Amino acid sequence: MRIIVLKDRKAVCAAAAKRVAVFVEKDKRAVLGLATGGTMTGVYEILADKYRRGSLNFSHVTSFNLDEYCGLAQGHKCGYNYYMYHNFFRHINIREKNRHIPPASGKNSGDACAAYEKKIRRAGGIGLQLLGIGTNGHIAFNEPGSSFCSRTRRVKLAEETLKSNSRYFPRCAKLPCYAVTMGIGTILEAGELLLLACGNKKAAAVEAAVKGPVTTDMPASILQLHPKATLILDRQAAGKLKTHNWKF
Ligand code: PGA
Repeated sequence: MRIIVLKDRKAVCAAAAKRVAVFVEKDKRAVLGLATGGTMTGVYEILADKYRRGSLNFSHVTSFNLDEYCGLAQGHKCGYNYYMYHNFFRHINIREKNRHIPPASGKNSGDACAAYEKKIRRAGGIGLQLLGIGTNGHIAFNEPGSSFCSRTRRVKLAEETLKSNSRYFPRCAKLPCYAVTMGIGTILEAGELLLLACGNKKAAAVEAAVKGPVTTDMPASILQLHPKATLILDRQAAGKLKTHNWKF
């Protein structure tokens, strides 16, 4: 596990965008695993800017998102379909047929999840996967207790996640209690993992993920066993690590 500690959120997003850009440039069939959440918007802004300036092309890129809420109306402003379209896809030239978000609206969730996994395999597997981390250590919506072998499936969100994500929902909108998420087993098959964390609120989860035992109680701790996992942290999220030696 490689750990990079940078000054602030801006620097974290810039470093992650740089890695994504190099991957997209070098890989002729780049398959990206994409994440949502507050931390990622800065990364997408920088990547979209690179596209606008003509220095980055996404026409050969295929993307798979980590998760989506169940039970939201099509195009709901708090859903991750909306988030991805407005924060990233509409600003770049990724083909519509090449972008994928977990199937959270259909009734036959089991079959649709299996089909999502199949699409990832058919695309050749995810080369580079972006990840956030929840205050409870979740990756995607794999909450504490999720199996390290889990695949794409419907899950119930943890209380802590509901509390933390309520900031993204206006008072009038009910926060969904269920979501469809890629599994930890699915995520671990990506060639490279890039986890971003910013702010004091993430410091305890980051500490446990990096220094604690590898346990399903702390889903992000499994990154310790991935051959190519990098954590890009701001100083606050790295606050409990005392990692002055790890600064790049
Ligand atoms: P955040 O979410 O970037 O909005 O803090 C990260 C996550 O919960 O995975």
